[in-house]
Amino acid sequence: MTFVDAAAAPRRKTGEIKLYGQDAFAGMRKAGKLTAEALDMLVAEVRPGVTTERLDKLAFDFAMDHGAYPAPLMYRGYRRAICTSINHVVCHGIPNDKPLREGDVLNVDVTLIVDGWHGDSSRMYGVGTIPRRAARLVDVTYESLMRGIAAVRPGATTGDIGHAIQVFAEAERCSVVRDFCGHGLGRLFHDEPNILHYGRVGEGVVLRPGMLFTIEPMINLGRPHVKVLGDGWTAVTRDRSLSAQFEHTVGVTDDGVEIFTLSPAGLHRPPLTVD
Ligand code: MF3
Ligand code: CO
Ligand code: CO
Repeated sequence: MTFVDAAAAPRRKTGEIKLYGQDAFAGMRKAGKLTAEALDMLVAEVRPGVTTERLDKLAFDFAMDHGAYPAPLMYRGYRRAICTSINHVVCHGIPNDKPLREGDVLNVDVTLIVDGWHGDSSRMYGVGTIPRRAARLVDVTYESLMRGIAAVRPGATTGDIGHAIQVFAEAERCSVVRDFCGHGLGRLFHDEPNILHYGRVGEGVVLRPGMLFTIEPMINLGRPHVKVLGDGWTAVTRDRSLSAQFEHTVGVTDDGVEIFTLSPAGLHRPPLTVD
């Protein structure tokens, strides 16, 4: 068990989920905003010919310049600041020296630690002009995330979130990845509860004011099945169909939900140029 697991173990056993107060919400607001600003900054940098290593460097430098630390760096042996997942890569793509190509769709996932609090968010970016089916998948995935967020309020359950996502994505003839989920976070990167992106109304954990977690559906144009490549991280669709993901960090409030990772520049769904 790692240090991080050890910290969460007592609560895992009792099934108790940590509830946070106003100071935590203030910390999460700051971490979420900076995370969103890093994703905003990258909008102008994503274009054909740019490498994902370059995006990683820009995100790392952005973190350093703002007194933040990128949570993925050295996390469970991961050696980059961000994840970059292109086309049929579902999540946890590792930045490398291969140039982005016209028509690629790219997820960039940034997690910044600010004053000990984690902001975790990802968005889809189009590289140059992208195919119409890719743009449709990106739109369906964004809408899936927002429908999941709309299900968050005290008394609702984690199953209500998953159900809202699954019903929408499947009605659009897309599939929901089962092998990865959203997660509680705060001072830890990955904590209870798990937020499944599929499920049934009323199932799972009852949401209470003060809970902090991510919602981060991965939606495929083809079948839901994934495999992890030999690098131990990169998850791809087994049928090589396109996959997309958006992620926000949210908190349950007395009367609903607060999204911590909204884009100050209004770029939460970066503009796509479509064929
Ligand atoms: N940011 C990812 C998430 O949404 C986790 C990445 S872990 C890493 O939970 F080590 F791959 F970076
Ligand atoms: Co996350
Ligand atoms: Co993330």
